[in-house]
Amino acid sequence: MNLLIMGLPGAGKGTQAAKIVDTFGLKHVSTGDMFRAAMANKTELGLLAKSYIDKGDLVPDEVTNGIVKERLAEGDIKEHGVLLDGYPRTLDQAKALDQAMAELGLSLDGVVNIDVAPESLVERLSGRIIHKETGATFHKLFNPPAGDYNEDDYYQREDDKPETVKRRLDVNIAQGEPILAHYRAKNLVHDIDGNQDINDVFASIVKVLETLK
Ligand code: AP5
Ligand code: MG
Repeated sequence: MNLLIMGLPGAGKGTQAAKIVDTFGLKHVSTGDMFRAAMANKTELGLLAKSYIDKGDLVPDEVTNGIVKERLAEGDIKEHGVLLDGYPRTLDQAKALDQAMAELGLSLDGVVNIDVAPESLVERLSGRIIHKETGATFHKLFNPPAGDYNEDDYYQREDDKPETVKRRLDVNIAQGEPILAHYRAKNLVHDIDGNQDINDVFASIVKVLETLK
C-alpha cells in the first residue's frame, strides 16, 4: 500500500504517520525529517534546506523532488509500501511524484487528508516537544510524555517560533488546495476530522485504510 498523509503544519501528520506505519508495516518517508537530519549533520543539502526552513518557506521543488525520488527507488519501498508525509507540497511536486512513481512501477492507493481548524494549529505547534533520543513527538498539554518527565530530554523545533509558524501556515494554505484538487480528481482523497483527540483521529484513519488493503 502506498499512501500520502496531508494536512497543514501541526495537523498531526507526523503523530498519525508513526501509528500508521507501526500498524500497516509501511516505510515512513517525511521530507521534513529528511531535511532536519541533513541540517543536524550540516551537509550541503542541510545548509541549503536551513536557509528556507528557518524562514518558514518551502525548499525548492527540484531539490525536494530529487531526494524523494532517490528514496522511493530504494528496494524496501516496493517491498513494504510507503507513507509519504509532507510531500508533495506544491502542484509541481505532485506531478513529479506521479511521474516518479510511474517510472518506479509504484501506484498510489490513497491520500489521507487531516483536516484541522487553522486556529488550533498555533497552539499545537507552540506546545510541541520532541524527545532528543528517539525523535518521538509529544505535546506539553495534549499529549505529554508518561510520568514525571525531564524537560531537558526534549527540544522544540526551531521553526515552531511564532513568526515562522505564521509564515508556514500562509505558505501551506496557499499551496494545499490545488494539490488536493489534483488527487480528488483521481478519487484518492479521504478526509479525516483532525479536531478529535489523537486516538480518535487514528481510529478514523484505520477505518479508511482497512478498506484500501
Ligand atoms: P514538516 O516537517 O513537514 O512540517 P509541517 O508540514 O509544517 O508539519 P509539522 O511537522 O509541523 O506538523 P505535523 O502535521 O507533522 O504535526 P505533528 O504530528 O508534529 O516541514 C518542515 C519544513 O521543511 C517546511 O516548512 C519546509 O520548509 C520544509 N519542507 C518539508 N517538506 C517539504 C516539501 N515537500 N517541499 C518543500 N519544502 C519542504 O503534531 C503537532 C503537535 O500537535 C504535536 O505536539 C502533537 O503532539 C500535537 N497533536 C497532534 N495531533 C493532535 C490532536 N489530534 N489533538 C491535539 N494535539 C495533537
Ligand atoms: Mg511533521
